[in-house]
Amino acid sequence: MYTANEPLELALLYHLNSPVPKSYVKRVPATELRYMPEAPFLELPPAPHNNPLTELLQRRSSVRSFENTSMPLIKLAQLLDAGCGLNGLRQMDDYTYEARNSPSAGGLYPIELFVSTQAVEGLAAGLYHYEPRGHGLHRVNNLVPADFVEPLLQQDYAVNANALFVFTSVFMRSMCKYGARGYRFALLEAGHQAENICLMAVQLGLESLCIGGFYDVSLNTMLGIDGKRHAALYCVAVGTESK
Ligand SMILES: Cc1cc2nc3c(=O)[nH]c(=O)nc-3n(C[C@H](O)[C@H](O)[C@H](O)COP(=O)(O)O)c2cc1C
Repeated sequence: MYTANEPLELALLYHLNSPVPKSYVKRVPATELRYMPEAPFLELPPAPHNNPLTELLQRRSSVRSFENTSMPLIKLAQLLDAGCGLNGLRQMDDYTYEARNSPSAGGLYPIELFVSTQAVEGLAAGLYHYEPRGHGLHRVNNLVPADFVEPLLQQDYAVNANALFVFTSVFMRSMCKYGARGYRFALLEAGHQAENICLMAVQLGLESLCIGGFYDVSLNTMLGIDGKRHAALYCVAVGTESK
């Protein structure tokens, strides 16, 4: 049993006590889905769809069957870069900082990015950790996407994906400044990075699947992280759709 000894620990206590449910509750009735149904309703002009970003947004959709085919290394580099790559130096007041492709509260970057790969040209299959500073990979172990079926609740959708990205958070990086609020920021930031990768996948002619259903202990163990101070938050599988 984990106990909350101080305010900072409460968020981590929540994290440790929010496993995937054993069974899912009933769907919300349709009447709950519209907010303020009684308020006056103002129709907006149709949003133009003929721009590159809207086209990417429209083309992104979840794929649950990937083809066993190879992917060039440059595409993996682009996906990782889209998630959390550096994009130059910026100035704020008297302070110069390294900007990244996704925002981070206070520029503290609590999110780390792991990727399990297979059939990526010029890269030995296995699990890597991405280092944005220097734009490179640390090899972690030999685990390929097919090895993650058990931690992903037996979901076997990613077995033929070229890349299974796992976003983890070193919570204290954000919580040391923002307290328990920093926990929320970490979740939000994983979402920012995941969407960047999903959209870059579309841009590269690939498909993706976001995966939030996993057993914490198994997944964290496979990544070699403690699951408390540093824990997995979210996954995205990317590859070529099998039709
Ligand atoms: C936070 C989150 C967690 C998800 N987890 C899973 C998952 O564990 N398994 C799965 O098959 N799909 C998962 N999905 C994908 C959703 O089912 C999917 O996005 C949704 O059905 C809408 O379809 P679309 O992505 O094609 O627009 C997840 C999506 C989100 C945003």
